[in-house]
Amino acid sequence: VLGMTGMTAYFGLLDIGRPKAGETVVISGAAGAVGCTAGQIAKIKECRVVGIVGTEEKAKLLKGHFKFDDALNYKTSSNLSEEIKSACPRGVDIYFDNVGGPISDAVLENMNPHGRVILCGQISLYNSPNAPQGPRPTPLLLSRSISMEGFIVSNFKARFPEAISVLSKWLDDGKIEASETIVQGFENLPKALIGLFSGANTGKMLVRAAA
Ligand SMILES: NC(=O)c1ccc[n+]([C@@H]2O[C@H](COP(=O)([O-])OP(=O)(O)OC[C@H]3O[C@@H](n4cnc5c(N)ncnc54)[C@H](OP(=O)(O)O)[C@@H]3O)[C@@H](O)[C@H]2O)c1
Repeated sequence: VLGMTGMTAYFGLLDIGRPKAGETVVISGAAGAVGCTAGQIAKIKECRVVGIVGTEEKAKLLKGHFKFDDALNYKTSSNLSEEIKSACPRGVDIYFDNVGGPISDAVLENMNPHGRVILCGQISLYNSPNAPQGPRPTPLLLSRSISMEGFIVSNFKARFPEAISVLSKWLDDGKIEASETIVQGFENLPKALIGLFSGANTGKMLVRAAA
């Protein structure tokens, strides 16, 4: 939480998303390291928080332990856009995008006017050999006055001390918690890396080099 993960969640959500109490925040890759932290920060900011994840266990963890208001499993959904609509009765004000691709297409359809899209990651496209094809969202962004902004966490380097101070206080107060998956053995490092793309992790994927 006090490293790159927390900085990414903090500046992405707060500076680009600019959440207000009562707004609805949807997060893809929500049980990953950044997504889980961003969701907890959004709850601190009194938003309705809906996560999108790839397993029922992750959905249960987000709703039960991390107090997300809802969590949807994109792997079992037959119509993700409709499920997002049901989970977000007042529409989506902020989308924290960690994955891109069809999941993002489904979220964008449900965005409210003046919504903010935080382009943090596009993991579903990282290994794609071809340029991604899909619905072109620009008419929708235009007609609903939605802003979409990409960022790299190091853009905020000068303000890391601010984020560390605020996140430390939230950690001390028990308002936020780290989530980790620890793989044993340096020889399993490649397996752990590849596992990020199949959802093998919950929270930060770590490799313990020696027992
Ligand atoms: N902008 C920046 O400066 C910055 C900084 C750090 C990280 N990032 C990016 O932010 C994103 C989140 O980082 P992180 O460290 O939280 O990631 P992470 O912990 O590695 O989480 C990865 C999760 O993404 C999900 N996923 C993998 N492939 C997917 C696919 N094809 N479609 C949908 N979901 C998929 C998996 O969960 P499921 O089981 O739910 O599928 C996986 O557990 C990454 O894309 C990363 O590259 C950006």
